[in-house]
Amino acid sequence: MYLQRRNRILRKNAAVRSLVAETVLTPNDFIVPLFIDEGQNVKTEIASMPGYYRNSLDVTVKEVKELWSMGLKSILIFVKSKDELKDNTGKEAWNPDGLMQRSIKAIKDAVPEMVVMTDVALDPYSSYGHDGIVKDGEIVNDETVDALVKMSISHAHAGADFVAPSDMMDGRIGAIREALEESGFTNTGIMAYSAKYASCFYGPFRDALDSAPGFGDKKTYQMNPANRIEAIKETLMDVEEGADIVMVKPGLPYLDILREVKDAVQVPVSVYNISGEYAMIKAAAKMGWLDEDKAIIETLTAFKRAGADLIATYFAKDAARLLS
Ligand code: PBG
Repeated sequence: MYLQRRNRILRKNAAVRSLVAETVLTPNDFIVPLFIDEGQNVKTEIASMPGYYRNSLDVTVKEVKELWSMGLKSILIFVKSKDELKDNTGKEAWNPDGLMQRSIKAIKDAVPEMVVMTDVALDPYSSYGHDGIVKDGEIVNDETVDALVKMSISHAHAGADFVAPSDMMDGRIGAIREALEESGFTNTGIMAYSAKYASCFYGPFRDALDSAPGFGDKKTYQMNPANRIEAIKETLMDVEEGADIVMVKPGLPYLDILREVKDAVQVPVSVYNISGEYAMIKAAAKMGWLDEDKAIIETLTAFKRAGADLIATYFAKDAARLLS
């Protein structure tokens, strides 16, 4: 058999394969989500996220030092708010002495170089478990944006490097950018959850923060999984309004969207490998149906190949270890 081209030559051994690899993962690609709780020396495993924990701030600070030593350079923080602090205004979200604000300060004091990103949405603080303020059963946009602005400024004040609005209200990126400028926070970035879908795969996360919506669902603000063009519209608007980094979320079921967004914008694109995606791999590995380490690397490589510049993933530590 005469063949002018034999594609297998480029796959003949590991050395050749590594020379021609189009996608290479490094710890620089990862954002590590962290769940923070009140208390001292608290480390609670999240039932639907085996191997992942909600930690008190003292434990978190130690963890952040370890992450930095492993070459992981950015974290995305979420806090679990006490039930008695929740109400419909979400005002605990901008309490200067709130758990989020204390956490940002403590982490930046301990590891100043760590890039600290903070979730901006009202759900952990809302008595309704919604990302915004509720009026007559509706999640109202403009009043929620005012609250998100206050929340963002309080995070910037505490030292956050990037605020990450995950709420999907209209106009919030522009409003937050303007407020950051007016308040003198000209070094604080915005990572916008731009194409965020109303997904069932957020379930384990809502267990972690006890933040499931008390009524209805999030379909009037998060996007319909059936839509593609709308994702580009949302993302381009966030860029126009001043987002430094845009995000597609969830990850695995939306790789097509990730690629289209990457081709449409000139800002870095992140993807969120969310809690349900973590839980699926963990569950299959526990059953002995998948090799967990290989599934992690293949999944994260798929994100980078699809166009992600940054990947928020609960597997960041595992991946950093596997890559070293
Ligand atoms: C809050 C928020 C959610 C996630 C990140 N920020 C949940 C939601 O929108 O209901 C999900 C992250 C994950 O599932 O890993 N707005």
